[in-house]
Amino acid sequence: MDVRDATDQARDNARAAQAADDIADRGWARIEHFLDPADRTALANAVRASSLREARTGVASGEQVRSDVRADAIAWIDHATASSPIARWHARMEAFGVSLAAALRLPAPVFDAHMTRYAPRTFYRAHVDAADDGSRRLLSAICYLGDRWKAAHGGCLRLAARPGASCRADDAIRLEPLGGSLVLFTSRDLEHEVETTHVERLSLTGWYLRASA
Ligand code: OGA
Ligand code: MN
Repeated sequence: MDVRDATDQARDNARAAQAADDIADRGWARIEHFLDPADRTALANAVRASSLREARTGVASGEQVRSDVRADAIAWIDHATASSPIARWHARMEAFGVSLAAALRLPAPVFDAHMTRYAPRTFYRAHVDAADDGSRRLLSAICYLGDRWKAAHGGCLRLAARPGASCRADDAIRLEPLGGSLVLFTSRDLEHEVETTHVERLSLTGWYLRASA
């Protein structure tokens, strides 16, 4: 399935080592040009061709659609049945997670992801990704699929400057959803939000999960 060659793999290993250092230092990392333009376009088209449904907030029995909190539409990825660009991306992210975990001295994680579309004028209010104690989410990983981001497009990711801080504070980190970039951050303790986007905002959103015992 995965036909990436040894040079690509070596490059991803180097990117993972750098990202692991950044995560250890400050809780987040950004890798620009993680996807090449042809991959980014193929993935964006695959997301557009998928049927996505309104995302839910909360866990298990408490799940509900709350468009005042988040209004993105998603489809979870089943790597066995996914279209080939998505399946290749999933395999690449799994391999990336193995390198990342090795650099962070963690056991190899499980990777779980969904395709995501924010329509114009939507957002995702402040939250943490591993809000409940039972969550196995260790790291959040988002690949942005837009074309040539501009300030007028909005849709920046605002990350709290440190665990326990607010993503609304002045010292929050504001990351533009640059097409082709990969952003990683710790799922348990970094509050974040997606500012209102003014254009369609496509991404692949995943989590590296602690392998279940
Ligand atoms: C999420 C999320 C951030 C982004 O889906 O939980 O916070 O930049 N996404 O899309
Ligand atoms: Mn989140």
